[in-house]
Amino acid sequence: MHPLAPHIETRGLRKAFGDQPPVLDGLDLVVEPGRIIALLGASGCGKSTLLRLIAGTLPLSGGAILFNGEAQAERPETAFIFQDPVLLPWLDTLHNISLPLRLRGMAAHERREIATERACRVGLGEALGRYPDELSGGMRMRASLARALTFSPGLMLLDEPFGALDAITRNRLNEELLALHARERWTTFFVTHSVTEAVFLADRVVILGGSPARVVDVVEIAFAQARSASLRTQIAYQQAVAETTARLYAVLPA
Ligand SMILES: Nc1ncnc2c1ncn2[C@@H]1O[C@H](COP(=O)(O)OP(=O)(O)OP(=O)(O)O)[C@@H](O)[C@H]1O
Ligand SMILES: [Mg+2]
Repeated sequence: MHPLAPHIETRGLRKAFGDQPPVLDGLDLVVEPGRIIALLGASGCGKSTLLRLIAGTLPLSGGAILFNGEAQAERPETAFIFQDPVLLPWLDTLHNISLPLRLRGMAAHERREIATERACRVGLGEALGRYPDELSGGMRMRASLARALTFSPGLMLLDEPFGALDAITRNRLNEELLALHARERWTTFFVTHSVTEAVFLADRVVILGGSPARVVDVVEIAFAQARSASLRTQIAYQQAVAETTARLYAVLPA
């Protein structure tokens, strides 16, 4: 377990932009340290907004987010990963991965060492000198993951990270993400529109719905966390996907 993986609780969380009607209201959620939560819900219901509130990049309009039981707690080291890997085209893989370390003033030899280790962890050890336009989509996303891991985050926020990738690469990255998670067990929020991805990754699938949105259903996914590709072919997995799909569609707007 990552020593700083936080327990997170939202209580009556509310977010309104300006004087518009709230996007989220009365949103209650508890996530134990090291757990993976998948967030599903209709487009525009407020999933990305929820991640930004948890990251602290947006102010709350009401309610509270508790880290380890405290509303005013210092935020844990947090990684935020988006669908766009946001790599700088003029930097090679090594320097893209080490950029956050450079921005925090770490010495060159130290950041090279950390960035090389993180690159190897995501299978990019042979691509350190390549530029983003010389990488495949999957490799770019691996570089984005490696960069997010440079500060050994306790909290990982992923917003549809693999949505732009083909199905095979996406499945492989799901498996690799679980292998990375098994090592440090960050508390993880994973936003996706894919029920199969949500069920494969998560300990718990949280469905947001309503207007304003709140948690309308929670599906516990009972498979052990040491999940491998073979899970996808198991009947129990297919059944969990079917059950989660039915529960998602039960709450989606007509
Ligand atoms: N900065 C902002 N100012 C005003 N409204 C915003 C802002 N950010 C988000 N919204 C609104 O909040 C609502 C929720 O947006 P959000 O991006 O969180 O949805 P989402 O669930 O992530 O959707 P998608 O699945 O399409 O990514 C939308 O109606 C959106 O227009
Ligand atoms: Mg979104």
